Amino acid sequence: DTPLRDLAEARGRYLGTAVTAGKLTGGYADVAAAQFGSVTPGNEMKWGSVERTQGTYDWTGADRVVAFAEAHGQRVRGHTLVWHSQLPSWVTGGTWTADRLRTLMTDHIAAEAGRYKGRIDHWDVVNEPLNEDGTLRRSIFGATLGESYIADAFRAARAADPAAKLYLNDYSTDAIGAKSDGMYALVKRLLAQGVPVDGVGFQAHLVLGQVPSSLEANLRRFADLGVDVAITELDIRMTLPATEAKLTQQKADYASVLRACLAVTRCAGVTVWGFTDSDSWIPDFFPGQGAATPYDEALAPKPARAGIAEAL
Ligand code: XIL
Repeated sequence: DTPLRDLAEARGRYLGTAVTAGKLTGGYADVAAAQFGSVTPGNEMKWGSVERTQGTYDWTGADRVVAFAEAHGQRVRGHTLVWHSQLPSWVTGGTWTADRLRTLMTDHIAAEAGRYKGRIDHWDVVNEPLNEDGTLRRSIFGATLGESYIADAFRAARAADPAAKLYLNDYSTDAIGAKSDGMYALVKRLLAQGVPVDGVGFQAHLVLGQVPSSLEANLRRFADLGVDVAITELDIRMTLPATEAKLTQQKADYASVLRACLAVTRCAGVTVWGFTDSDSWIPDFFPGQGAATPYDEALAPKPARAGIAEAL
């Protein structure tokens, strides 16, 4: 059975997975290294993980993922520099003037992207900037700084690591619709201002049987703006228990997402958000749902894994 990472490379794409640093031993590490050509730390590079206390950095988990990738010839997607969630409480609990918050943000980007300079292929510079209707999310950053925080974040990331491809990333932007229209207009505005946006990430946290029919056309319209695109956090959840029929549907769904990426020249690759059901966020965040990844809890390949291989 050809490793998925080799099938993807032969098509000029990468196949990646989110990983958990603390699990990178034994069978989990073996599958991650053998099957995937790119890794994304699931949590270890988030601001709340690396600077829980102001001025005190802990790079242990992030370093471990980057070292694992380098030992196995894998790329790294850095995730994520600016996001409203999983922030340190000293950031969310502070009262900051706009100038102070902007400086905190750009200093954080300089510290983190600077530490891994030259070792990160893609950075998710800004994660989840939009509301469901496509308007700017009034997060601590959006509310305090307005849309300009996005341009400032990309410029800081470019200065810190000129070689990394810089991505804007969001969820529920997979189909053509209000939210992806908002993202499309935002990317256009940023490019017109000369902001160094290299790519747009589509998280693709999908529901069984509901791969958007407009996914490929949506990826293509962004690519036509002159940016790369990528599927960055793919999982396809189902109501538990998993049955043979649901797993067969999931196989078809995974294959159709892979085919949408392959059909768009500027689609750089696909990352699954955890490769095993034992390391998926879905059961915790969507009660009653799960079995969303291509390997089961015992690290055995599911039909979805064959769907990926067949599409590649
Ligand atoms: C998730 C992680 O997988 C979980 O372990 C954590 O508890 C919450 O965050 N969108 C993102 C990811 O951009 O960072 C999120 O990851 C899933 C949704």
